[in-house]
Amino acid sequence: MSAVHPRGGTSSAPETIALIGPGAIGTTVAAALQEAGTPVQLYGRTARDQLVLHRGDHDIVVPGPVITDVSQVADPADLVFLAVKTPQLEAASPWLAALVGPETVVCVLQNGVEQEAALAPLLPEGRVVPAVVWFPAETQPDGSVLLRGDARLTLPHSPAASAAAQALSTTWCEVELSTDFASVAWRKLLQNAVAGLMVLTGRRAGMFRRDDIAGLALDYLHECLAVARAEGAALDDDVPAQLLARFQSFPADLGTSILADREAGRPLEWDARNGVVQRLGRAHGIPTPISDVVVPLLAAASDGTGSVSGPAAVTPG
Ligand SMILES: NC(=O)c1ccc[n+]([C@@H]2O[C@H](COP(=O)([O-])OP(=O)(O)OC[C@H]3O[C@@H](n4cnc5c(N)ncnc54)[C@H](OP(=O)(O)O)[C@@H]3O)[C@@H](O)[C@H]2O)c1
Repeated sequence: MSAVHPRGGTSSAPETIALIGPGAIGTTVAAALQEAGTPVQLYGRTARDQLVLHRGDHDIVVPGPVITDVSQVADPADLVFLAVKTPQLEAASPWLAALVGPETVVCVLQNGVEQEAALAPLLPEGRVVPAVVWFPAETQPDGSVLLRGDARLTLPHSPAASAAAQALSTTWCEVELSTDFASVAWRKLLQNAVAGLMVLTGRRAGMFRRDDIAGLALDYLHECLAVARAEGAALDDDVPAQLLARFQSFPADLGTSILADREAGRPLEWDARNGVVQRLGRAHGIPTPISDVVVPLLAAASDGTGSVSGPAAVTPG
């Protein structure tokens, strides 16, 4: 997979930058821009006076406010970073309607491989830039965000992506432009898909050291690989084994954002991370027996109906 590093590119930096969804990932990107002296307009669901990112041994404050009323958007932005979770996209679409003009580039900071397809009905063609987000960031109880590790994104090598890359080129958020973005995105998707098994056990990465879970994970990764290849990803035969080995090498107590969402009773990104393999597998005529079990269970776990936190009125059987 070849990659191009964007520093020193010739395209001009966007003048107005907006962020929709100032959560863990959005706060990280906003803080990187802020520290490089680039102002960002913040649009979200929860009103805040400012954002705070803990990075290494210091804190970065991004001045707010976080605007929550779409009628307060005056003009479209040149560049929009969209960092809501995938189930939140529909509710966030009024922000896109207000902030996107004919020349606006929207860089989507989300997991999955369907960002362009999801935004196609809402945006002009060629203006959506999907991103693979490589860094873990966690929202703390006080609303601040803890960045773990180095911030890094992969974007496709496209004219629209150069606007996002240019904006970030003077920041500590590293951007790589890939000439084979589909393969990079699908590799990350395989990682996300198998992490979904943690939701079904309520266990963290240590579970992948069990022989039975390792076997299941490997079979699931091979199922995902077949779909990825049918979608054009160039991934080698040993990618499933590499990914499994990686999970087995993680600290036993390392979680994943979809498990954190499950533990907090929030909607899960099951469709973008797992459902996509089943849907696209069916479209290509590829059997997906593991997805056929995993996906309905994740969907049900995401659904409030029958929640264990509600009153247990009747115990059947
Ligand atoms: N966190 C990570 O380590 C990580 C790593 C790689 C990829 N990703 C992916 O990056 C994406 C973003 O994840 P995240 O962890 O940053 O999620 P997050 O912390 O939950 O952030 C989402 C943000 O969007 C806001 N939001 C929700 N609905 C909205 C609406 N209708 N309009 C405007 N803003 C709205 C939320 O507001 P509230 O404050 O009101 O909830 C929150 O600030 C996901 O696809 C995730 O899978 C995350």
